[in-house]
Amino acid sequence: MRRRALLGLAGTLPLGCTAVAQGPDPGDNASGGLRDLARPRGLTFGTAVRSDKLAVGPTLSALVAREAELLVPEWEGKWDALQPQRGRFDFEPLRAVLRLAQANRQRVRGHALLWHEAMPPWLAPALAEGQSQAQQILETHITTVLGETRAAIRDWDVVNEVISAPPGGDNPGPANGDLRPSPWLSALGPGYIERALRLARQADPTLRLTMNEFAVYADTPWAQAKREGLLRVVRGLLDRNCPLDAIGIQGHLQMREPFRPEPFVQFLTTLRGMGLSVLITEMDVREPDVLAPTLAARDAAVAEYAGAFLQAARDGGARTFLVWGLTDRDSWLLSDPGVARHDGQTTRGHPYDSELRPKALQARLAQFFSA
Ligand code: G3I
Repeated sequence: MRRRALLGLAGTLPLGCTAVAQGPDPGDNASGGLRDLARPRGLTFGTAVRSDKLAVGPTLSALVAREAELLVPEWEGKWDALQPQRGRFDFEPLRAVLRLAQANRQRVRGHALLWHEAMPPWLAPALAEGQSQAQQILETHITTVLGETRAAIRDWDVVNEVISAPPGGDNPGPANGDLRPSPWLSALGPGYIERALRLARQADPTLRLTMNEFAVYADTPWAQAKREGLLRVVRGLLDRNCPLDAIGIQGHLQMREPFRPEPFVQFLTTLRGMGLSVLITEMDVREPDVLAPTLAARDAAVAEYAGAFLQAARDGGARTFLVWGLTDRDSWLLSDPGVARHDGQTTRGHPYDSELRPKALQARLAQFFSA
């Protein structure tokens, strides 16, 4: 039986608890929040949050407090926020998220101890100076961050987006087998994932260690090849008795991709059969290039596509479901040039619109957590 980490409620990290600005109820939702619907069924609903947006948005804060049981910091738990200069740690943005969670009896999951993005400028050059220094840098970061957050965060994305995109994917340069090219792979070799997981387990024996990955949901040969690559990597880690507890499926859905439950359910079932938990960590929806003629039709299509994915994830054993933000307003789908629409339309891939009004996806989530 693989170790099951104790997922406690947010503990008492030495934090000043700031009052959460209570704005007006952002919406008439008599059934209470999604968190209240999910909990009696053993399910968890959560969302990514940004401390800079919650600090200035009492209505948004109230919405997050009502809907979410679990929070994940959108940027505050990454290297460029936590260790902007080598050896200088800044936990204040992350602490702001933890304070908000504590005030609303919410848990927080950590994201992300090792990733090839959100790297501060000093990091990649320092990693390239040699393997022993790279190991020391990784060890210092993981032990410092887990030591500081141990009481408040009991589940971390230890490694994020490490699987190579099959041919035709988005990887620059030749992949190393199933692992995508990255400064970590270059500095530490294919064993870097195991190193990170073992360092995390050593730093905190009861922390849930999660590997988080994207683009493994669609019914396409490309996604199937990526699922098979992930399974090979995971099987290799487990065969070496590497500590690993869960696989995070990001769920950045693209409606232009066909989806069929069976291959995705089979994938999750296989992971569960290896003794791993599975969770949906970052769901949002990119609409197709050609949009339906009305907002209502667009929103209904988003809800239907996401609903099929959620049900398949649940059938495959997922019990935790996070969206990558509650509202369209601050979405990376609008700000990231790599994914933003170029037709002047605003992507409507989140449960609430930019004015914090609930959309069909919010109703679909309520229906999903009520069944
Ligand atoms: O670093 C500044 C910080 O100093 C400042 O106080 C804060 C508030 O203005 O902004 C911070 O900057 C940006 C941050 O988002 C908040 O807007 C960063 O420069 C920017 O790089 C960061 O982008 C995030 C990106 O990951 C990289 O970390 C996106 O918001 C976030 O949505 C995106 O999320 C990723 C997941 O981590 C992994 N899966 C894919 C997903 C989408 O790319």
